[in-house]
Amino acid sequence: MLRRLHHEQPESFAFTPANLEWAKAQITKYPEGRQASAIIPLLWRAQEQEGWLTRPAIEYVADMLGMAHIRALEVATFYFMFQLHPVGSVAHVQICGTTTCMICGSGELIEVCREKIAPQPHMLSADGKFSWEEVECLGSCSNAPMAQIGKDYYEDLTAERLAEILDELAAGKVPVPGPQNGRFGAEPLGGPKVLTEGGAGSQKVNASVELATTLGDTVKRIDGTEVPILTPWLKGREDGAARPAAPAQRDAAKAAPEVAERKPVTLSAPRDGKPDDLKKLKGVGPKLEALLHELGVFHFDQIAAWTPEEVAWVDERLSFKGRIEREGWIAQAKELAAKG
Ligand code: FES
Repeated sequence: MLRRLHHEQPESFAFTPANLEWAKAQITKYPEGRQASAIIPLLWRAQEQEGWLTRPAIEYVADMLGMAHIRALEVATFYFMFQLHPVGSVAHVQICGTTTCMICGSGELIEVCREKIAPQPHMLSADGKFSWEEVECLGSCSNAPMAQIGKDYYEDLTAERLAEILDELAAGKVPVPGPQNGRFGAEPLGGPKVLTEGGAGSQKVNASVELATTLGDTVKRIDGTEVPILTPWLKGREDGAARPAAPAQRDAAKAAPEVAERKPVTLSAPRDGKPDDLKKLKGVGPKLEALLHELGVFHFDQIAAWTPEEVAWVDERLSFKGRIEREGWIAQAKELAAKG
C-alpha cells in the first residue's frame, strides 16, 4: 500500500507547551548525539495531539531532533500506526481484519463502518466526526471480532453493538471498552474453568477496562496536561550523583575540556540581502536556519571561520549541545563557502 502525505496540509505545527515539555523530557532519555532515537515517541505524541501526522508536524519533530526532514518522513511513512491523512474529529476506528476476527465476523463490522462512516477506509464521514480502516491482528484474538477505537479495545463485537458504539461516540459519550458480550476478559465463552474463586471473580470489569475508564481518555486528543511528566532517569544527574559514564564517554570528556564561550562576528542582516541556504548543512532544517538567522548567522563563510570558543557560544544557544561538531558544520561550511 502506498503511504503518501495528504494532499492538503496545514501551514504549521507546534506542540502545546505541556507536550513540548514532555517531548524535551523524552529526548533526555538518550545519550548525547543519539537524540534521533526519540523520533517515534515524538511523532506519536504529535499524532496524539492532532489526530494525524501532518507534514509540518513531521518536519517540526525532525528539527527538534536535528534530523534531516527526509529521515523523519521515512519513519512516518514506514509505520502504519502513523496516520498520514486526517482522521475523524471524534474517533478513528480500527477494525481487525486478520484471520480470527475475519472468521468471527469482522467483515460485518467493516460493513457497518462503510455504511455509518464512509465507503472507503481513511475517508472522513460526512460530518467529519469519524474515519475507519482495517488493520492487522491487534493481539486480542480470543475476543474476536474486535476494534481499536482511540486508545482502547472494544472486543466481542457484533455489527449491532458496533453501530451503537458509534452512535454513543457521536453523542459525546465514551462507551465502556473491553468485551461487549458480558465476558470479564478472555475466559471461555461458557465461563471461567480455572481461577474461579476470589481475585478477578470479585471485580466487575478487568484491570484494562478499569484503567481505561479511570483515565477516560479513549478518544481524547492528548495536550500533555493529562499526567505529570516524570523523569526519574534524570534524578541521578540532578542531585549530582550522575550515572557512571561509559568508557568512551569518559575518554571523550577527558579529551574535550570545557571551552570558554566567545561570541562570533554576527550580522544584523544578510550581505546584499541574500543569505546562503544554511539548510544545505546536514541537520539544519527551516527551524534551525531561522534560529541561526536570529543569532546573526547568514553565510557559510561565517560558520567556516568559527573558533572552538565561538562554536561553544553558538552551541549554547541551539536546542542541543554538540550538534555543530557532531554534524561537522565547519568542514561542510568551508566546502560550501569555497563553492561560492
Ligand atoms: S485476529 Fe483480530 S485481534 Fe488477532
